[in-house]
Amino acid sequence: MISKLRGLWRALAQWRQVPRFGFLQGHTYLSEAEVGRIGELVGQDDPETIKSYEQRFARLIGEGRAVSFAAGRMGFYALMKLLDLGAGDEVILQGATCSVMANAVLRIGATPVYADIDPETFGSSVDAIRRVLSRKTRVIVAQHSFGIPCRITPIAALAREKGIFLVEDCALTLGSSVNGVVCGNFGDAALFSTDHSKPLNTMTGGLVYTRDAALYERLEAMRAICGALPAMKQQALWQQLILERKYCRPDQYGKMRLVSRFRSFAGIAGRPFIDEDFGSGVSASYPYPARMPSFLAEIGHREIDRWEKTKDARKALLQNLLDLFERHGEKMPMVYRDRTREIIPLRLAWASEHAAAIRNRLEPILDLPWTWFMQPIVASSEPLENFGYRQGQCPISEKTGPNMINIPCNIAPEWAERLVTSLTECMDAR
Ligand SMILES: Cc1ncc(COP(=O)(O)O)c(C=O)c1O
Repeated sequence: MISKLRGLWRALAQWRQVPRFGFLQGHTYLSEAEVGRIGELVGQDDPETIKSYEQRFARLIGEGRAVSFAAGRMGFYALMKLLDLGAGDEVILQGATCSVMANAVLRIGATPVYADIDPETFGSSVDAIRRVLSRKTRVIVAQHSFGIPCRITPIAALAREKGIFLVEDCALTLGSSVNGVVCGNFGDAALFSTDHSKPLNTMTGGLVYTRDAALYERLEAMRAICGALPAMKQQALWQQLILERKYCRPDQYGKMRLVSRFRSFAGIAGRPFIDEDFGSGVSASYPYPARMPSFLAEIGHREIDRWEKTKDARKALLQNLLDLFERHGEKMPMVYRDRTREIIPLRLAWASEHAAAIRNRLEPILDLPWTWFMQPIVASSEPLENFGYRQGQCPISEKTGPNMINIPCNIAPEWAERLVTSLTECMDAR
């Protein structure tokens, strides 16, 4: 209660601060006609819109095919269901993940096991995975964080050698590649998230991509029997889309924060979102897994229309951000200068020795509570033990987490320059 009040007070005090950069980019670019078309589909089933969205999304990744769900975690759950996972089976997750991934494993009745991160990529590490492998391991999840491909080739080789199903977690990484191979093509399947903080924003949503034709058929058959998100949730998501389109921009973001804080204070936070899977409980008021609503797929089409331009803008912004912080003496992960990788950044991320001082400087213009992976499992206030995590299990993640700095790269292109100038002013201030 006290922390909610404090948050509300801070948002009230700062709501006029312009610019203020968040980690969500509203759909400011949608025309009124496009918004109208999306609105017409709320609560409607339009299989054609879904199908063509899945096909276009899959083409961003490679030769495989994709099946959509109402969230990435639900696609992951569907995969585990098809693999017939249950009690006694182990699933290796990275010890810097979202609680919904652990929740999906708990739901299926299996045991999540956490492998430490690679401090260079903040993604999965083959050595850490090898250390926690057991005879019970049925699935390895290899995570690409912040848009940075993890060192996936040896992980894929290990999974192949052991005959273990490999899922690439591409929730935070869309379009990045290693030696020309796009992330998502290294494993048996890959999951993508398209929630509003992710590379491609459909408010909520996710897809499973696979090059295995038989697996695709089975996933599609499973999706066909999934329930729909309740009509009230779809309406709330639609209203949230309108709100974020208006306020999730740097000249309005203070208002967005104020509305969110007020909702949280009044106990109506998160109502539009699929937010009952953040804890360790395994029941929800909506179908799980649920299929993706058609109006969200329609937003996905508009996002894909712009994707090539979006990618270029994010890459250019990343270079400017790297230069800026390197000029200020920050040591950036070497992976950002690795020529074998193409990074389409979602965020610039690094662990800084001066994290507290940098946060102090950036606080006036950046929505810092959205920094990811300050602890090994994020998005839940429950003790990590509830998700099967033992303190000390992922020491690198525990050590680097509190020093994480995130800078958004999913900024509308017209605001990119202003972000760099504002950050420079904050870093230069005496
Ligand atoms: C690393 C990671 N994997 C998977 C997911 C699940 O995505 P979704 O929210 O679409 O279920 C998230 C969500 O934030 C995530 O951060």
